[in-house]
Amino acid sequence: MFDTIIRQANLPDGRKAHDIGLKDGRIAAIEKSLPAQAGTVIDATGRLVSPAFCDPHFHMDATLSLGLPRMNVSGTLLEGIALWGELRPLLTKEALIERALRYCDLAVSQGLLHIRSHVDTSDPRLVTAEALLEVRDLVKDYIDLQLVAFPQDGYLRAPEGVKSLERALDMGVEIVGGIPHFERTMEDGRRSLEALCRIAAERGLMVDIHCDETDDPMSRHVETLAAETIRHGLQGRVNGSHLTSMHSMDNYYVSKLIPLMAEAQMNATPNPLINIMLQGRHDTYPKRRGLTRVRELMAAGINVSFGQDCTMDPWYSMGSADMLEVAHMAIHVAQMGSLEEKARIFEAITVNSARTMGLQGYGLAVGCQADLVILQAVDVTEALRLKATRLVVLRRGRVISRTEPRVAALQLPGRPAQIDHGLDFVPPALRG
Ligand code: FE2
Repeated sequence: MFDTIIRQANLPDGRKAHDIGLKDGRIAAIEKSLPAQAGTVIDATGRLVSPAFCDPHFHMDATLSLGLPRMNVSGTLLEGIALWGELRPLLTKEALIERALRYCDLAVSQGLLHIRSHVDTSDPRLVTAEALLEVRDLVKDYIDLQLVAFPQDGYLRAPEGVKSLERALDMGVEIVGGIPHFERTMEDGRRSLEALCRIAAERGLMVDIHCDETDDPMSRHVETLAAETIRHGLQGRVNGSHLTSMHSMDNYYVSKLIPLMAEAQMNATPNPLINIMLQGRHDTYPKRRGLTRVRELMAAGINVSFGQDCTMDPWYSMGSADMLEVAHMAIHVAQMGSLEEKARIFEAITVNSARTMGLQGYGLAVGCQADLVILQAVDVTEALRLKATRLVVLRRGRVISRTEPRVAALQLPGRPAQIDHGLDFVPPALRG
């Protein structure tokens, strides 16, 4: 009856020991026990099964380019942008595709099957867009890849920024990007958002803006983005990425801003790894963290998802396509360590991110696509704590990656020989 049954899995909503039946690439049943047979049976006893991870903010054209043509010495965002400007004329379509595919290998092994990548449109050659459009098609049986036309050097500031962005959209890039805080003036930033939201409304596209990625509390483009979202009827289709200036803003102003964002039904996507690395660079001590107000945005009902942003590129020398690593950092920087808060953080790298990306058929329910990951963890809390091993990754019901579990059991006199609890450990007080 089923193609595959995953036996006795724990689910992110807390349900324990359920069978998941997969048929024709979709979830066909979730029951305490499925008596039916299947071609493939996967034992997930005591393991968490989650919908595959989503990364709603990445730069696949820059990934794995670390050291080209040189390293970022200061470690700042601005040197990263300058360094990328040095590398850009040297980029070839072939090299871009090769690096992107290598990254996709890594992503699949980490259970990351849905990625939104920005594509720099500053170089009128648009070799970046050509390459990633090809990659989007090449990897479609493994990864849903969305592309954002992103004017890294400024929509109005770059010599051909306006034309290049429109050409990228004409080529098939499907989301409108922007970077208002990098335009020459605040006024240019505002004008760029007006134009970009108008383009999205006219073309029926989503919007994803690098918005206020600065420690300057007066960088208030998110206010304009929310207002333009409402003016153009783009509610639910706009994502504000980074939003780091909100960390430094006056509390009174934020008390007006967050309800405005909620009214616009904006999504918010902080990038905890890169934000904690890049923000506060102009501070001495105390040094600001720079992550936007995650807890307050969530409390206002705003859909908060987390992005990875960078992996081994001019801005960030670390990264491993691991959304649990992203969430792990978020827990610390946002100081959200309670069981309830960790559950919300896990949603930010799964269902919330899927909502930001507008994914259809995502989730762990009957009828959803069978894009799943089996983790070496008993529950969400342990998955986050351990950045748990992704034991099995399935795409449309097909196993596309397997990793051996990490197991350690010291052989000691008087200790039972069959201790095989892996590395996950639920304290007795928390056992349900
Ligand atoms: Fe970014």
